[in-house]
Amino acid sequence: MIDLCLKNCKLVPENGNCSIGIENGKIVSITKIPPKSEKLIDIKGNPVLPGLIDSHVHFRDPGLTYKEDFKTGSLAAAAGGFTTVMDMPNTKPQTNTKKAFLEKLEIARKKSIVDFKLHAGINDLEQIRPVAELNPASFKIFMDLYDNSFLMEAFKQISKLPQKQIITVHAEDKNITNYCTRMEKNRMIEVPEIYAKARPPVSEVIAVSAVIALGGFYDQKLHICHVSTKKSLQLINHAKISGQNITSEISPHHLFLDNSYFHKCGNFVKTNPPIRDDENKLDMSCLKEIDIIGTDHAPHTVEEKKRNVWESLPGIPNLETALPLLLTRVNENKIGFKDIKRLLCRGPAEIFNLSNKGKIEEGMDADFVILDMKKEYVINPDDFKTKAKYSPFEGFKVKGTPIMTIVRGKVVMENGEFFENKGKLVSEHHKK
Ligand code: NCD
Ligand code: ZN
Repeated sequence: MIDLCLKNCKLVPENGNCSIGIENGKIVSITKIPPKSEKLIDIKGNPVLPGLIDSHVHFRDPGLTYKEDFKTGSLAAAAGGFTTVMDMPNTKPQTNTKKAFLEKLEIARKKSIVDFKLHAGINDLEQIRPVAELNPASFKIFMDLYDNSFLMEAFKQISKLPQKQIITVHAEDKNITNYCTRMEKNRMIEVPEIYAKARPPVSEVIAVSAVIALGGFYDQKLHICHVSTKKSLQLINHAKISGQNITSEISPHHLFLDNSYFHKCGNFVKTNPPIRDDENKLDMSCLKEIDIIGTDHAPHTVEEKKRNVWESLPGIPNLETALPLLLTRVNENKIGFKDIKRLLCRGPAEIFNLSNKGKIEEGMDADFVILDMKKEYVINPDDFKTKAKYSPFEGFKVKGTPIMTIVRGKVVMENGEFFENKGKLVSEHHKK
C-alpha cells in the first residue's frame, strides 16, 4: 500500500489518462489502473504538469520583509503553480557570506511552503570559496553594479573552484547605464518611458558580449538572466553554437509587454532591464531560441512604485501571473504544453542540476501543478498572495489557471486554499 495516488491525471501533451503513485514524496508508479493507496485524489481528467521551477525570485527575506518574505513569496509561488524557487542574493544583508547564506537557509526552511535553492552574491572575494561549499544555485553577478576589474577577479576565482559553479548574470553595462541615466536626468523630462532610454538596449548588448568573452576566457558556465533584446539573444546563441557553455532566460514582462505599457501603467512596469520598443524587443516568436523562463518576481510596495520615474523602484511581481498568461497562449494554440515543460520544468532543472525535479517519471520528486484550462478571469492584483499588490498585467483576460499545486506529494494549494508545508532545500547531486 503506497501513500498517495492521483487518479485520472491527464499527462500533457501525451493525452494519456493515468494514475500516479506516490511514496515518501517520490513518484513510484505511472499506471493505467490506480494502485492501492492510503490517500486518493481524483484529478478528474485535468491536465497535469511537473511542478514549475522558477530560477529567479526576489523574496526579500531577510531585511526587506515589508516587501515580501519567504512565507508570502512561497504562497505566491504555490498560487502560480511553482513548486521550486531559487532566491536572489540582493537581500539585507546580501547573501554573499557564509554566515548570511546559512541565515537565509534557516529562514527558508522555517517559512517556505515550496522547495528552494539560494543564489549567492559576491562582495568579498575571500568568501567565494566558503559560500561555494554550501552549494548555491549559482553566483549572481549584477554587471550594472560592478566594474570590469571586479568581474575579472570574480570569474578568475569562481572558474577555479573544485566544484563547478554557474554564474548567473544581470547583463547591463555599469558605465553605459550610469552615463545614460545622467543624460536623461539632465533633460528634466520626468515621464516613465524615459527609463528605457536611461538603460538602453546597447547597454545590455555590451554587457552580454563582455560576459561571453569572460566566460569563454575562463571556461565558465554562464546563465544570462532576463534577456530583453534580440541582439543579446543573437550573441548568446552564436556563442552557444560555437561551443560555449551558456544559457538564456526571459521574463514574462519582456515576453508579453512592449514600451507602450509605460503609458498604460506608468512605473508599475518599471524594471531592470527595461521593457523594449518593437525594434529591439523579443516576443513569443523567439521562445524556441530561449532556454528558460525566469519570472524575476521582484516585489516592492505600491508606494515605492508610485514615486516619480527616478525614485520608483524597479521590479514586477510575476509568480501569480506567469502561468495563466502562458496557458492563455496554449488555449490560443500559439504555444504548446511541451513549451511550458521545457521552459519552466525540464529546462531550469537541467541548467541548475536539480536532478530530482522537472519531469513526471518514476523516481522523481512528486511535484505537480494541475490545471483548469477552461477557467477564464481578469488579472486583479488584489487577489495576489504576494505582498506586492500591483501588476502591469492588471486587467488582462486570461484563460487557463493552476487549480492544485503539489510539493513532494503534499497539496499546498487547492482552488485558492493554501496548506502548511515544510519546503526543503533541493539537495545537490554532483554537478557535471
Ligand atoms: C530587481 C530587484 O528588485 O531586486 N529589480 C529588477 O528590476 N529586476 C533587481 C535587479 O535585477 O536589478
Ligand atoms: Zn536582474
